[in-house]
Amino acid sequence: YRSLRVALLGGGSVGAQVARSLLEDRDELAHRVGASLDLIGIAVRDVDAKRSVDLPRELLTTDAERLILGADVVIELMGGIEPARTYILQALNSGADVVTGNKALLATHGPELFAAAEQVGAQLYYEAAVGGAIPIIRPLRESLAGDRVKRILGIVNGTTNYILDRMDTQGDSLEDALATAQELGLAEANPSADVDGYDAAQKAAILASLAFHTEVSVDDVHREGITAVTAAQIASAAHSGHVVKLLAICERLIDPDSGVEGVSVRVYPAMVPRSHPLAAVHGANNAVFVEAEAAGALMFYGAGAGGVETSSAVLGDLVSLARRHVVGGPGLTESKHAGLPVLEIGKATTRY
Ligand code: NDP
Ligand code: HSE
Repeated sequence: YRSLRVALLGGGSVGAQVARSLLEDRDELAHRVGASLDLIGIAVRDVDAKRSVDLPRELLTTDAERLILGADVVIELMGGIEPARTYILQALNSGADVVTGNKALLATHGPELFAAAEQVGAQLYYEAAVGGAIPIIRPLRESLAGDRVKRILGIVNGTTNYILDRMDTQGDSLEDALATAQELGLAEANPSADVDGYDAAQKAAILASLAFHTEVSVDDVHREGITAVTAAQIASAAHSGHVVKLLAICERLIDPDSGVEGVSVRVYPAMVPRSHPLAAVHGANNAVFVEAEAAGALMFYGAGAGGVETSSAVLGDLVSLARRHVVGGPGLTESKHAGLPVLEIGKATTRY
């Protein structure tokens, strides 16, 4: 096998899980990629901080810049704008490919980062930036690229969906439900990003940019959070057969006044009829409901937050990039045979 040097920036909720998988599943990943993925270091703020996963002490460093210089692929999971932006630019300019889950950065500096990647022929992947574990970036960027997306309705923030769901089903207060979401590692470092709708607005900007092949920044998104939602409003919505959800709505439409065709992107708590598939999205789950001209209605659903779940999207990006490194060009599209036999069981059961 060839080997690829992987640098991880961030060893928090998501980063620690990515590190754990790279170390524990080393052989299986190497087989799938056709090259070993060697974790060369994990940049953190404090090497002595207590972590959810015990990371090997010798891999931890506070010297991110040095780590980046020795890497083929850099995974940025620190969050925030700076120094994440500078580190990603350094990585791209040194010829490394980059994986990130940083929607705050992409929704504000996306065009700068994509231009930097294009200039040096490097790749920037970000499946984890929207919808946690849910594959939605690649379907919009690739599978639906030949269709015309008309509208996206998304529940894209796990923390607020968890809070609204607890208020609806358990009668919890917003404060109690938020505290539990924080304990579960769902919330952003500053939970205002979740409850005031900033996180959802960032994700909406990313989805709209991809779906409508245009540049949408978080500043273009109309945003309202959930802090003004009361128990009485939730009860009244329930009474009329609705549920309150924080929706990201991305639409291609014609301005009735000017006749100009454009894009509208909004985030606000909306009344969703209980019969709509989005009403059945409970807990910290996310769902992205896409309406496209030819494909019709599609729904992408799953865990929208959480370190373990989100690590799946990050590792998927890493495997895709690593395959490109191994064979060049677009890379392998399928795993090599991993040697698992097909079992002759369960043929006559009615269970699934
Ligand atoms: P955490 O806050 O749990 O972890 C951040 C990590 O980055 C920590 O290890 C921290 O070090 C390190 N770090 C932060 N700033 C610096 C710095 N200046 N220099 C070096 N290291 C630094 O974040 P998450 O893991 O929750 O999130 C990471 C990214 O993934 C964010 O962009 C987030 O929006 C995104 N994301 C998160 C999801 C989730 O469910 N948590 C889901 C989808 C995306 P130390 O440990 O020493 O403090
Ligand atoms: N705080 C975010 C959420 C994490 O609750 O959805 C996932 O992006």
